[in-house]
Amino acid sequence: MILSGKARLAGVMGWPVGHSRSPRLHGFWLERMNIDGAYLPLPVAPDHFEQALRALPKLGFAGANVTVPHKEQALRLVDHVDPVAARIGAVNTLVIRPDGSIEGRNTDACGFLENLRHGAPDWKPGDGPAMVLGAGGAARAVVAALVDSGVPEVVVVNRSPARAEALAADIGGPVRVLPWSELDLNGAALMVNTTSLGMTGQPELQVDLGRLAPDAVVTDIVYAPLMTGLLIGAAARGNRVVDGIGMLLWQAVPGFEAWFGQRPVVDTQLRDFVLAT
Ligand code: ATR
Repeated sequence: MILSGKARLAGVMGWPVGHSRSPRLHGFWLERMNIDGAYLPLPVAPDHFEQALRALPKLGFAGANVTVPHKEQALRLVDHVDPVAARIGAVNTLVIRPDGSIEGRNTDACGFLENLRHGAPDWKPGDGPAMVLGAGGAARAVVAALVDSGVPEVVVVNRSPARAEALAADIGGPVRVLPWSELDLNGAALMVNTTSLGMTGQPELQVDLGRLAPDAVVTDIVYAPLMTGLLIGAAARGNRVVDGIGMLLWQAVPGFEAWFGQRPVVDTQLRDFVLAT
């Protein structure tokens, strides 16, 4: 990577940020497309986040991604918030406007949907209700995406019911909350795990797939391991499954395009490169 004095700059602000795959992901595209630009890991402690965010336009940055634990604070600090980010309650992408003001967007919802569309091309929002496990930040993006795409009903199940109720109230639309003890997959056309269960180092997600329709799609936003226990179990009984790495890849597309001016392509070469860490 050789940069000129006019190189476009972006990066990811997180704390810690060392585990982030975004520099590798955006770096792959920059090199593939031969773009005069850089995407940097930006380790920013929570106490310094506001200062760091306000410095971005002053340092000539085109924008940045925001990750844990700054996504909610970013929503409060930016000058302009897109409606999807406001409903989700979090910003993951910053774009600096020509006047130096900072726009906050959330691309997780569209990343989730693009991954689902590419991984299960036959799935249509109108196929039937979706069952979403979890009610954290990721669940908010997933539920917003499903409601906005026209899924007739989204059922949210979470260990802490109050969090699921707050999600339903904030996102709006046909969202119903069920206690975990009443989880029933009968009738679901789509099942999504947004909890951290099944992730390396976490307990397995224990769900009885027995009543799930054979043509239902199962997807997991956990991507380490790529084939979670849930996906292995669903695939074994013939359900279509979509793994979680694509959500990370697809959510990066709009930011890259806004900062570097060209729309990047998501393909298996990129996927393999990002997974090889
Ligand atoms: P993210 O932003 O990735 O969604 P999060 O906000 O910490 O992360 O949310 C994690 C989700 O996993 C939550 O739905 C959480 O349930 P609670 O709201 O009840 O905390 C869920 N989760 C994490 N560990 C869990 C466990 N051991 N059993 C059930 N759910 C769990």
